[in-house]
Amino acid sequence: MWDYTKEVMEHYRNPKNVGKIDDAEAIGEAGSLVCGDALKIYLKIKDNMVVDAKFQTFGCGSAVASSSVLTEMIIGKPLDEVKKITNKDIADRLGGLPPEKMHCSVMGHEALENALSKYFKEDVAPHEKDKMVCTCFSVTEKQILNAIKDNNLKTLEEVTNYTKAGGACGNCKADIQAILDKYYGSEISKAKPILTKTQRIIKINDIIENQIATELRKDGGDIDLIDIDDNKVYVELKGCCSKCKNSTMTLKNFVEATLREMLDEKIEVIEVEK
Ligand code: FES
Repeated sequence: MWDYTKEVMEHYRNPKNVGKIDDAEAIGEAGSLVCGDALKIYLKIKDNMVVDAKFQTFGCGSAVASSSVLTEMIIGKPLDEVKKITNKDIADRLGGLPPEKMHCSVMGHEALENALSKYFKEDVAPHEKDKMVCTCFSVTEKQILNAIKDNNLKTLEEVTNYTKAGGACGNCKADIQAILDKYYGSEISKAKPILTKTQRIIKINDIIENQIATELRKDGGDIDLIDIDDNKVYVELKGCCSKCKNSTMTLKNFVEATLREMLDEKIEVIEVEK
């Protein structure tokens, strides 16, 4: 059984803006009935503002909730702002989604992107040019790459959670892994510029707060950055992590490994007990 937030439950039970707009300026689609989830979003646009939005969806409760909250997020907003909405914004507005349901927020974002592309008459046929990776769920290379970039996905399992690709016959798993390897192979070389001392401190702080602490908090743990001395990073583990007999593993295999992977292989993480 999934653990849904009260926002998800509220939007699922009382979805807002369900239906269609006959004279919509833009209609966006994502997913397909064959794949089990589909969304159509209708936008009424006036003076570069979304003045109304409605949706029709076929999918689970998370798909309904994601679509419903998305319409609330865009109605009354200028297009410049609407364009910047990501799937993470949709999930955040719902107070989070179970990892296995993140693909519902991605579907919302893709439908919105599709509508805006049509409205601005951009190239809207990525599926024709883009390489199809997962035929079971009609997921293309570009969609997988976008999900990786937008959500900082690192593993095959995460890609499946966010896109569904790889979640059926599994024949595409090697291709998905190759996309991940290629992306991080190039990203790592790009992501390791020479930083000033201050930039390095900011970066370490950012990784700890936004990547590491976020993960630890999911299990009742937490972490504080105490000090940085060249390659030595001093931290305090808190919550469950401080009492856990596996805290050394958490420190080395997760905290240190993440900092090394994202920033510098020479980093050593040291626990400070207060
Ligand atoms: S081709 Fe991707 S799960 Fe079947």
